[in-house]
Amino acid sequence: MSAQREFKRITVPDIVRRKGQEKIVCLTAYTAPIAELLDPMVDLLLVGDSVGMVIHGLPSTLGVSVEMMIMHGQAVMRGASRALVVVDLPFGSYERSADQAYDTAVRIMQETGCQAVKLESNPGCARTVEFLTGRGIPVMGHVGLTPQSVNLDGGFKTKGRSAVERARIVKEAEEIANAGAFAVVVEGVFEDVAEEVTRTLSIPTIGIGASSSCDGQILVVDDMLGLFERVPKFVRRYGALREHIEAAVKRYSQDVKGSVFPSSDECYQCESQG
Ligand code: KIV
Repeated sequence: MSAQREFKRITVPDIVRRKGQEKIVCLTAYTAPIAELLDPMVDLLLVGDSVGMVIHGLPSTLGVSVEMMIMHGQAVMRGASRALVVVDLPFGSYERSADQAYDTAVRIMQETGCQAVKLESNPGCARTVEFLTGRGIPVMGHVGLTPQSVNLDGGFKTKGRSAVERARIVKEAEEIANAGAFAVVVEGVFEDVAEEVTRTLSIPTIGIGASSSCDGQILVVDDMLGLFERVPKFVRRYGALREHIEAAVKRYSQDVKGSVFPSSDECYQCESQG
């Protein structure tokens, strides 16, 4: 049974083959029940370090630990049997050296069973990608707006305003691809920058706040389901979970206060008493 499930799981080469062909559907996931719900409809589930902000209420992704990523990675792997599962390397767990990145990636892959890791572009990143991929670790890159650099950037700012910045983003993406990454997330860049990166690379680009020309798209699942009141311009709300939850809890509260819940049908009756 489990061998059959593994056989059906989308693989890294499956994703690479989709370049310029069929679009790649990606979402983030952090828990087992949501992963199970999304799994039949998406190609790739990312256990993003956005978990820190979305689930744990942190102001940025900087406070996310390797242990948090492992706990949520394990939950998602329990829920998903078809989608390729990628887990983010959190801030401080990979930037110092290729050795540090290798140790973190191996731990995450061994303890979660995920198929690949993602890391944000930084100086020396291409060497790290080469080191990991050369040792059997599939890597997804991440260029443009890299949320772990929020303090350097002074906020979550769209990238590619100047010609120098545009050229830097394209170069970083090329270096990551040449180093062996199987895909690159392109986040928060002007549309033409994402188009150029997608044209230039021979591996798939996964856009978020980028361009429909990317080979795939990703959104933070809680954003697209409408769990938050305020979302960035690039998020399309496909659901209104916030409103549904508010309405449901309001009704529950009224029923509890009016002693309408639970009804006798919702209570256990001892059979000997009828
Ligand atoms: O952490 C995350 O959720 C991400 C996606 C937004 C790409 O990196």
